[in-house]
Amino acid sequence: MSIERTFAMVKPDGVRRGLVGEIISRLEKKGFKIVALKMLTPTREIVEEHYAEHKGKGFFNGLVDFLSGGAVVAMTLEGENVIAEWRRMMGATRPWESAPGTIRFEFATTVDENVAHGSDSAESAARELGIWFK
Ligand code: RTP
Ligand code: MG
Repeated sequence: MSIERTFAMVKPDGVRRGLVGEIISRLEKKGFKIVALKMLTPTREIVEEHYAEHKGKGFFNGLVDFLSGGAVVAMTLEGENVIAEWRRMMGATRPWESAPGTIRFEFATTVDENVAHGSDSAESAARELGIWFK
């Protein structure tokens, strides 16, 4: 058991579809602390840095277009095992593989627009928080 911080984001599809309240509500009911929160339309540069691990993959350009194409809600979350637990709350990358009750199961149908982001490790969390909350 350890208190961690992670980077969470409601992606442009989630903001556009009015899911910010639902997602924040789930985090608050679960008991995770929202330490920082801001709404912004990210530049291509910040998105490319954020998803640097995927550079060169077939979906990369579309992913950057999508993420920089509208407002997102960026958050720092804090809590026990929050890195893995937030990923569990989001569900699998491909919504059709996600467990019932998860955000991606409940609110997404495509892998390209899957509503939410969460850092996948302690290293990613530190790196991403450094990008989004300098
Ligand atoms: P995220 O980083 O956005 O939280 O998603 P993730 O860890 O669950 O998945 P990741 O492998 O990091 O992929 C990042 C985002 O790229 C898109 N993607 N598309 N078409 C495809 O095969 C494909 N694979 C990944 C998804 O939107 C995914 O969330
Ligand atoms: Mg990822």
